[in-house]
Amino acid sequence: MIVANWKMNGSKASIHDWINTVSKCIKPNPKVPCVFCPPSLYIDFSRKLIDDLSSEIKLGSQLVNAEDGTALTGGLNSLMLSDFSTDYVLIGHSEQRTFFNEQANQTSNKMQNSIDAGLSIIFCIGEPLDVQKQNGTNNFLATQLEILKGLNLDNVTIAYEPVWAIGTGLNAERRYIEEVHQFIKDYCATDLNLKENISVVYGGSVKLDNAEEILSSSHVDGLLIGGASLNPDNFSNIYNLS
Ligand code: 13P
Repeated sequence: MIVANWKMNGSKASIHDWINTVSKCIKPNPKVPCVFCPPSLYIDFSRKLIDDLSSEIKLGSQLVNAEDGTALTGGLNSLMLSDFSTDYVLIGHSEQRTFFNEQANQTSNKMQNSIDAGLSIIFCIGEPLDVQKQNGTNNFLATQLEILKGLNLDNVTIAYEPVWAIGTGLNAERRYIEEVHQFIKDYCATDLNLKENISVVYGGSVKLDNAEEILSSSHVDGLLIGGASLNPDNFSNIYNLS
């Protein structure tokens, strides 16, 4: 899976251009979904463009709220995303955890509701710099992974995004990524009793010039790309490496 996370970027014009260009330039591989996550306001606009072109692009939302009712001004729930034929949703992104102070119980609520609504989920985890420096990455990630206990993970992909690599230009090195992905897969097999290997994708300062090396690891099942996904030619070239 190769995912474009546009964060708070874009306009109708740039999304139109991106969907057109990427639909033309990628060589679709049915085993490698190409997922576009525009700001949620543009979900419907993007859906129509994708459908009009019969494009292979899948649509993802960057946002879903934790909801147990309807009294949430500004809220967006998983049923609304399904109603607009959204395929994927990003949950647990470090920017949501940091800027919206998302707590584990909210992440867990989002997961359960999105599973119930039939959405595929990209569940994001990753350690901050101080934790990495103190060799605490595995313990930190195990705590974040705990909320998956008891959930149906058939349609869940894990995105490992070290916080210190996001938007900094400092991607994690291949060897480090491999070790962490192996840890995540082992945790899912032993602590979550998953029989099938779960897919784990990497995110954090992925660009055209480092994507091939990162993807060459057998433990890396795809990429979650922020800044470098904005340019449609760049993104298509990265997709075509997979
Ligand atoms: P960058 O690729 O800009 O570092 O962002 C990574 C990310 O947060 C994708 O979800």
